[in-house]
Amino acid sequence: MSELNDKGACLLKLLADGKFHSGETIGKELGVSRTSVNNYIKALQSIGIDIYKVTGKGYCCAGGIELLDAKKIEMHSQSKRVHVEQIVDSTNQYLLDKIGSIEKGQTCIAEYQSNGRGRRGRSWVSPFASHLYFSFYWRFDSGIDRLSGLSLLVGIATVNALEKMGIQGVTLKWPNDIYYQNKKLAGILIELNAQATEACHCVIGIGINVRMSAEQGALIDQPWVDLNSLSAEPIDRNALSAHLIVELQLLLGEYEKQGLQPYLDRWFSLDCFLSKSVNVLIADKIQTGICRGVNAKGALLLEVDGDIKEFIGGEISLRLLDK
Ligand code: BTN
Repeated sequence: MSELNDKGACLLKLLADGKFHSGETIGKELGVSRTSVNNYIKALQSIGIDIYKVTGKGYCCAGGIELLDAKKIEMHSQSKRVHVEQIVDSTNQYLLDKIGSIEKGQTCIAEYQSNGRGRRGRSWVSPFASHLYFSFYWRFDSGIDRLSGLSLLVGIATVNALEKMGIQGVTLKWPNDIYYQNKKLAGILIELNAQATEACHCVIGIGINVRMSAEQGALIDQPWVDLNSLSAEPIDRNALSAHLIVELQLLLGEYEKQGLQPYLDRWFSLDCFLSKSVNVLIADKIQTGICRGVNAKGALLLEVDGDIKEFIGGEISLRLLDK
């Protein structure tokens, strides 16, 4: 969907009401020809948006679509720092570029990311209005020292928000993947701007699969699941964003004071690999052992030949041995 631009976004806004709009009205509204209207419609259909045409009536988006709405999110979260973009390169980058001029809790959410980032330099597929692309800024005045457990805490906050949306059974994979029955539901990318002795600026990026089309899903190189297939009702991304903001504000505030310790029980109850045999991959090395959860530093605890080894750091990943 790299061809998606502001016109495509305007068209989607127009069709979001679920009513019929003639090709002529759309063309006038967007300032484009009927042929271009057709092309934009095709582009939106190609990302899984269900638009159909009835002769004499025009185009209609089946069931309408709930677009992101900063006012609704602010109302439900009591935050005054929500910024919604239609199209952005990366919501994380948007906030990183503003460090120094933004306050704790500043949130950026977008309908589309042209350069969504995943962990380990991967890209994060970010089709228009399909999923949640959410970034949240926080500043730790105590510096970088205590941040090793941060990604675990963000995972817990995300599960809390999902539970408030009625989604049960979501689990966490150390350090920060969010799974449902061994399929990836969401990912977290935390980017830091910090010097050893000064305040640490964190941009917490969360991507959650909401409505994945078969076409988009085929581009993902691992098993995945989306929220709409776990819920009887289509997921309202505004409500989900508001819950995320509330949970992050609450948990980050506590974490600043007490670290990860108060959240360890919760982590253990959500850990999808607890007591299972796993491989820990560190660069080109593999260590096999039994997952024994995490400690208050956020380190992974691995039982190897009766001893507990600690693993910490961004370049380590975990794989299940016995599925
Ligand atoms: C992962 O690889 O599992 C982490 C994916 C994180 C994706 C989110 S979407 C919102 C934010 N902006 C980005 O560019 N990436 C994160």
